[in-house]
Formats: sequence, structure tokens, C-alpha cells
Amino acid sequence: MKLSALAAGLAAVASSLVSAAPTSNQQCATTINNQILSYMTDGSKSLYDLSCYGANSYGYWAGIARFGTSEGDMLQVINKYKAGGSGRTEFDKYLPTLQKYAKSKSLSGKGLDGLCVAWVRAGANNRAAFRAAQDEVAQALYFGPASDMAKKLGLRFDISKTILQDGAIHNGRGVVKVSLADIVKATSAKFTKNTSGKSGSTLNINGRKVDEIEWIKKFLSVKDSMTKGSCPGCLYSYRDIISRGRYNYNEPIKFKLIGGITVTASC
Ligand SMILES: *[C@@H]1O[C@H](CO)[C@@H](O)[C@H](O)[C@H]1NC(C)=O
Repeated sequence: MKLSALAAGLAAVASSLVSAAPTSNQQCATTINNQILSYMTDGSKSLYDLSCYGANSYGYWAGIARFGTSEGDMLQVINKYKAGGSGRTEFDKYLPTLQKYAKSKSLSGKGLDGLCVAWVRAGANNRAAFRAAQDEVAQALYFGPASDMAKKLGLRFDISKTILQDGAIHNGRGVVKVSLADIVKATSAKFTKNTSGKSGSTLNINGRKVDEIEWIKKFLSVKDSMTKGSCPGCLYSYRDIISRGRYNYNEPIKFKLIGGITVTASC
């Protein structure tokens, strides 16, 4: 009786350890994932509240998924942030203009002077809520669909999932008309025979056996050519990460930016 109670207690401890570990690993992997995405977008580590760009001629974009004023997703983030708080936000005076530009898909930045100051301030004033709003919109519009696609393809490596998320953030939006789905389809069409590799993960692509990393490398070059070299820095850095053979985020990920400096994504 006593022993079995002890055994049950130990089993409970063991199972709580088992279930606790993946959560923190998962959080760590998500942090590394987001840092890599951030580096690819503007060469810095944290895009949530620090990164914001704008001009009168091409609108503004900011945040973890490069939310834009002309695309309406920045407005979604701000609305969510506002709804989750006490009502007043750093963005209130911009709302009519943001609504107008989102509706007309306008690339104008007129009337939005100071928007980036407000963006950074929101991150400083209410970091958790502001990031949560960004995460929610990013998940619904970009990361969720990219994860579904990764699942459908059978991708197992963290780096593969990041590369698809990156494709969802940067493609099929604004001036880049080609979508993630277009690029995935064109990539898979390139594999007309079984293609082996060293990654240890094999995908089934239209009935062919294709090594996951061979597929991802092809995806990067297909993306580059379909988007007419829209992000040479991403191409360079993703290839660098892959060449180092670290495909999962259970350790810090070191890589080079196109300018030559080496950075590390870690949690
Ligand atoms: C490719 O892989 C499939 C599935 O394992 C196999 O049935 C087929 O014979 C292979 N084709 C070639 C050309 O090796």
C-alpha cells in the first residue's frame, strides 16, 4: 500500500517533469524562432515593439509579423491591444487615418507622423499586452496558416517551420504578390524523382521521397527567384544556418547576417 502510493507519487512527479519540460523547451524554441524572424526582417533581435518603419510614400510597418498600415493587419493589432486594455491607447489619434488607409489599402503615410514613437511607447508601457495582441494577429494571419502547411508537408525541423513562417510574413503581401502557397507548390513541383539527403527526415512529395533539408533548400531558391530576390539577406542567413547543420532549437542558433557579422538567437 505504502509502496504503491510512493510509486504513484513518483509516477506523478515523473509525469509532471515530462510534461513540464516540453513546455519550457517549446517556449525557448518559440523565442529563438521569433528572434530569427526578427533578424531576417531588420537585422535586430526584437521586432515586437522596437521595430517600426514608415514614410509618406509607402505607409508604415512594424512588429513581429511586419504588420502594415496599408494591409490592415496593424490596425487589427492596435484594435486588439485597445480592446484588451483600459480603452485609451497610444494610438488613439491615429485610428481614423489607420482605418481609412486599411480600407483603401493605401500606401500613404500622411497623417501618421509619430506612429512609430507610439508603437515603441506601447511596447514600453504595456509590453505583455502589446506583444500578446501582436502574437494573436500573427498567429491568425500568418503563423497558423504556415504551421498548417508545414504539417501537411510533414516538416519536422524547427528551421523548416521558421522558413515557412518567414514566407508567410513576407510574401503575398504588399508589393510581393506571390504567396507562400504559390512558393510551396512550385517547390514541390521541382521534385520529379526521389531525392535523398543527410537530414534523417524524409517527406512524401507527390509520391516521391524527398529529404526535408533538400526540400527546404529548394524552397529558398524557388522563393528567391519567384520574388525576384526580394530578400537577399534572408536567403544568405537561412543558407548559413542550414549549412551549420543545426535544424532544431534545443540550443542557441548562431548564424551570419549578410553584412558579415555573426549573431546568436537564444533564449
Ligand atoms: C522512390 O521511392 C518510392 C517510395 O519509397 C519507391 O516506391 C520508388 O521505387 C522510388 N523510385 C525510384 C526511382 O527509386
